[in-house]
Amino acid sequence: MPLATSAVLLVGVSGCQLVDDGDNLVAGKQVFVQKCGSCHTLNRAETTGVTGPNLDEAFQQARRDGLGESTFVGLVKTQIHNPARGAQVDPRTGKRLSEMPDSKELDISDEQARDVAAYVGSVVAEPGEDRGLLATVGVKRSTEIAKAEGGTVDIPADPTGALAYAFGGAEAEPGDLTLTSPNESAIDHNIAVEGNGVDEVGPVVKDGGVSRISFDAAPGEYTFYCSVPGHREGGMLGKLTVKR
Ligand code: HEC
Repeated sequence: MPLATSAVLLVGVSGCQLVDDGDNLVAGKQVFVQKCGSCHTLNRAETTGVTGPNLDEAFQQARRDGLGESTFVGLVKTQIHNPARGAQVDPRTGKRLSEMPDSKELDISDEQARDVAAYVGSVVAEPGEDRGLLATVGVKRSTEIAKAEGGTVDIPADPTGALAYAFGGAEAEPGDLTLTSPNESAIDHNIAVEGNGVDEVGPVVKDGGVSRISFDAAPGEYTFYCSVPGHREGGMLGKLTVKR
């Protein structure tokens, strides 16, 4: 067979690489949790993103109709390399869902795309829980506490794009306080704070932008969180304690 276009080649490859050895699935789940889960809900990966469609719902009918893993793996891989953009409308609001970044923007190698497609294809719209090695993969949340320096606390977003900050909590002294949150990832995030009569929301940033809020911090407890829909619910939050 002569070398055809890369699209044809991809389809050809997907057909014969459905060898689900466990390693690839574990690697694929890791990629999914870090690079996809902030936008997509997938029950077995315990991700809760709402920017893109709920993948279990999206594939449910096809699963019922008897379409199998090989079809799903192919669909997911195509979507990663060539996202079908802007076609989806949120059924509740009628608003167009935002576009999905492609593999280049998400910094996903061909191998990672293959692994993540293998994982999603094998678990999407399947009830139950991941077991064994797969069960050990998930968003790693820091328990470290960020300390204020000179009236500023730096709470970076997880650089991989997962729904997490680099710190699980923060401490500061009373007075003028600034929270900064650099975000290296390609996923929208910000820093917001509420509690003790304060309710501030910083700008949403990505690709190295810095979200920032300032307020007059009285002693007490606050919650800092990402206000992008679904992110706080997905666990992107922490406790800020202000004490003398
Ligand atoms: C920044 C948010 C975002 C990220 C990150 C993201 N997606 Fe998406 N995804 C979307 C959106 C939005 C759509 C709906 C299509 C569109 O409008 O672009 C979508 C659509 C899809 C679909 C098609 C679902 C359907 O209804 O047919 C699949 C499959 C998918 N994404 C898988 C992935 C995988 C796998 C990753 C990680 C490599 C990923 N997505 C990362 C936002 C995202």
